[in-house]
Amino acid sequence: MIQLSNVTLTFPDGDSRITAVDHVSLTSRPGTVTAITGPSGSGKSTLLAVAATLIRPDSGNVLIDDIDVGRLTPAEATTLRREKIGIVFQQSNLIPSLTAREQLQVMNALGGRSSRRRPEVGEHADELLNAVGLGDHRDKRPHQLSGGQRQRVNIARALMNGPSALLVDEPTSALDQERGASIIELILRLTDDLDTSTLLVTHDTVHLPRMHGGVHLVDGKRLDSVPATA
Ligand SMILES: Nc1ncnc2c1ncn2[C@@H]1O[C@H](COP(=O)(O)OP(=O)(O)O)[C@@H](O)[C@H]1O
Ligand SMILES: [Mg+2]
Repeated sequence: MIQLSNVTLTFPDGDSRITAVDHVSLTSRPGTVTAITGPSGSGKSTLLAVAATLIRPDSGNVLIDDIDVGRLTPAEATTLRREKIGIVFQQSNLIPSLTAREQLQVMNALGGRSSRRRPEVGEHADELLNAVGLGDHRDKRPHQLSGGQRQRVNIARALMNGPSALLVDEPTSALDQERGASIIELILRLTDDLDTSTLLVTHDTVHLPRMHGGVHLVDGKRLDSVPATA
């Protein structure tokens, strides 16, 4: 479960500061997808980075599975991030020289909930690649994959350490409508199968009715008066 309460985050902006996230609260429960929408610059990616514990908010609390991240030491926070949080960034950051399978396998080297032995790591990577529909492409490198397929590898990689929170930033922005729809479909299915608490930043309002909840941001503030389907 992800719980943000009254989170505010500012960035330096010349002599003053810009408020990227302004007193936002949200709860995302296991097995549900919460959509985060809003215009460009409204704070969506920043909110995701706060939930991912990559940036510490100026004020407010971040709880992951009831653990108050603000109370952890840096080392404990790193462990929590590694074991509990899967992140799919907006820009694909696959390693060019590695096959799809290897992209997943290196995640284990970074540690995880159950540091698996090598053969098991390979099996787990294969399971996840099958789950995202890439079983037949596991030996391909990023340049041999389409944009949609690369995004599937990104998603599979984020799931490699069995996270309880899955955070996905605009996964369909570089894809056509059909491929985009199938990525959303995949995220909904994996959330259900793996019981993740998922936050999904999207500009694609077509799929909002399928989500379990929505947060609409304008200038860093949560606007509940705007329906999720707007
Ligand atoms: N690292 C940063 N340093 C300074 N300002 C930033 C930084 N990241 C984001 N911002 C500012 O915070 C606001 C929210 O940005 P962002 O979260 O990226 O919005 P969105 O993802 O909704 O497009 C914007 O005004 C942006 O310019
Ligand atoms: Mg963004």
